[in-house]
Amino acid sequence: MQLTVVGTGYVGLVTGACFAEMGNEVTCVDIDERKIENLKRGILPIYEPGLETIVSGNVSAKRLQFSTSLQDALAASDVYFIAVGTPPNTDGSADLRYVLDVARDIGRYLSHYAIIVDKSTVPVGTAERVREAIAAELQARGVDIPFDVVSNPEFLKEGDAVADFMRPDRVIVGCDSDTARDRMRDLYATFMRNHERLLFMSVRAAEMTKYAANAMLATKISFINEIANLCERLDVDVESVRRGIGSDSRIGYSFIYPGCGYGGSCFPKDVKAIIRMADDCGFEPVVLKAVEARNEQQKQLLFGHIVREYGNDLKGRRFALWGLAFKPGTDDMREASSIVLLNALIAAGARVTAYDPVATQAAHAELPESWFKSGALVLANDQYQALEGADALILVTEWKPFRHPDFERMGRLLKEPRIFDGRNQYDPQRLGEAGFRYTGIGRSN
Ligand code: UGA
Repeated sequence: MQLTVVGTGYVGLVTGACFAEMGNEVTCVDIDERKIENLKRGILPIYEPGLETIVSGNVSAKRLQFSTSLQDALAASDVYFIAVGTPPNTDGSADLRYVLDVARDIGRYLSHYAIIVDKSTVPVGTAERVREAIAAELQARGVDIPFDVVSNPEFLKEGDAVADFMRPDRVIVGCDSDTARDRMRDLYATFMRNHERLLFMSVRAAEMTKYAANAMLATKISFINEIANLCERLDVDVESVRRGIGSDSRIGYSFIYPGCGYGGSCFPKDVKAIIRMADDCGFEPVVLKAVEARNEQQKQLLFGHIVREYGNDLKGRRFALWGLAFKPGTDDMREASSIVLLNALIAAGARVTAYDPVATQAAHAELPESWFKSGALVLANDQYQALEGADALILVTEWKPFRHPDFERMGRLLKEPRIFDGRNQYDPQRLGEAGFRYTGIGRSN
């Protein structure tokens, strides 16, 4: 099939590249000329394992191309994916400006029947607004071209995006036309070889499914974080409790790892947006509001532990911080817990030497340049270098090389053998035997 994907961010680029890999001819369109020029030269705007190989292979095979002109791409395609950003407005609602701009452009240039697919995470009712925007442009042109609008939300995880797209748990398609349903079934058939994972539903149900899925996962995390905080006060090790409840197949082991809060470009934004949707229709979303509140507090927790130990004035203290990205496997620092912690530490007068295997450029982009200039924040080239002379190590992101470090060497490098573990990576007993003082999230020492 001939496909056009508008937006070369996370979702758009992975969607375009993976559909091309399956033999489709794909044009990825973006208004950002630099991004498109870079992509043509094989330079990707994001770090995602496996994606570069797929992009370069399909560009060479001429199945994948990049363009800044939606008009050119529109001439040939059967299906148009809208995968542009939906950043939060100040009130937490999703800003649909970019989605509706693309819809209007499609209406301006469309010349034949097409399916327009919302891939971006958009509030319930957006497909209707996309349909109206396209119809208004067609009417202004005085033409009558049939089209369908479909909701096909994406469930990929950063760091696993290619695998998630190629082997999805399910593909959700919200549509209300037989033609669109048949085309979408055909398009996704290659991903369903072993068993059917395609779920058809109404457009509004598909839009809601995306938010409900992310909100459910965020709820699991906030729930276990609340239990962890309670465990801490009752001298119970939450890791035993996690294993104890995870073994119930109705609960499951995934997304119940306690920690210093969830971040990223999805959970925080989507929980805010679903709360906003509820508020807009006069419904009080008590559970969702609690999920968000717990997460905000959870991001402050490590700093609370540090203040309890060293007091409010951290002048003259230096901490080593392992992990800046919002999770392992990505260079993305959006809404990362590390940012909340760094803000608090530096405001209290501490200096920090941080190490992240990937998020170095992202750190310079996300964090105030004044921190680097004043020396309040230094980025180390190596995880052990970060420890030299530091009062304590704070682990924020559980990258693999942090899981089994050389504790003896760490003990020698740190001023004191002290670890604050924001992701419960270490065994308190083992660390105690190695001479470390240890604080995790909801651990009994
Ligand atoms: C999330 C969803 O998992 C995807 O299914 C969804 O498609 C995506 O959002 C999206 O809407 O685009 P992602 O943001 O890439 O994916 O990251 P996750 O792996 O879900 O992790 C989110 C955060 O939760 C991380 O900060 C992670 O450290 C935290 N987390 C995760 C925990 O604190 N505990 C856990 O048990 C699991």
